[in-house]
Formats: sequence, structure tokens, C-alpha cells
Amino acid sequence: MSQITTPRELFLHELGDIMYVENALANEVLPKLISEVTDEEFRGALEQHLEQTKGHLKNVEQVFEELGETPQPEECIGFEGLKSEHDKLLEETSPDLVDSVDLGAAARTENYEIAAYEGLRRMAKAMGEDRAVELLDKNLAEEKEALRIVEKISTRVANESAKAYA
Ligand SMILES: [Fe+2]
Ligand SMILES: [Fe+2]
Repeated sequence: MSQITTPRELFLHELGDIMYVENALANEVLPKLISEVTDEEFRGALEQHLEQTKGHLKNVEQVFEELGETPQPEECIGFEGLKSEHDKLLEETSPDLVDSVDLGAAARTENYEIAAYEGLRRMAKAMGEDRAVELLDKNLAEEKEALRIVEKISTRVANESAKAYA
């Protein structure tokens, strides 16, 4: 990509970055996590978040359109890093602990998404792009709710797991 010289270009780049993440989550990562976890509540939460994630992708595409731009994903190196860290950890960990590994990865991902949407929202607000702010807020609210659910399940699983290995 050519050099970024305006806040609007930076916003579009960051938007492409989160579009890449939502697309990878919807089409690859969440289906994979759903197939590997064993905890019922966690699987249900992942299935629900998969549906929300498909909506996030549409909302992000809509933000591009609100700005008169064609949706364009940008490879997100940060997310690729989270993914390789997770894959490596999973290989090194016994299958009994797969839920704990995946809960950690889910929490990291939600925090990453929350930081991305908060930054995008701030930039859109500063540029007076109110419709974009509304769409970004929808995604942000669902990411925060997803993180809250993951944290709740993580606490239960950590307690159960600590007891089982005591
Ligand atoms: Fe998302
Ligand atoms: Fe998410």
C-alpha cells in the first residue's frame, strides 16, 4: 500500500485490518474453535458469536460504503500473531486442557477487537462520520458482551480444572 498521509487513509487502513480479522474469524477461526472445544456452554457462546461475527463483517463493509469506498481487507499481522501463538500452544498442551487454551485465545481476540473498534470509533467521530460511528458502536457492544461471557466461562473452567488437578 502507498504511504498513509491523512487521518481518513489511516482510518480506512485500520478498517481494512479489522475487516480481515472478522473475515478470518467468521470463515476459519470460530468454526475451528467450535469443532475443538468440549465445554457445552463455551461451544454455545462460540456459536452465538459466530453469528454476531457475520454481522460484524457486514457492518464493517457498510462503514466502507458510508465513506464512498470499496471494502478492502488489509492483512492483520497482530491477529496472525495471536493465531500462531494459539496454534503453537495447542500443540504443546494436553487435550484435556483444550478449553482453557481456547478460552485464553478467545479473551485475547475479544480484547484486540475491542481496542480496534474503540480506535476506529474515535477516528470516525472526530471526522464527523456519524453513521460509521453508529455501525462501529454496534460491533463494539457485541465484542464487549462476548468478552464478558468468555470471562465468566473462563472463571468456571479454571476453578473446575484446578480442582480436577489438585
Ligand atoms: Fe467481531
Ligand atoms: Fe469478537
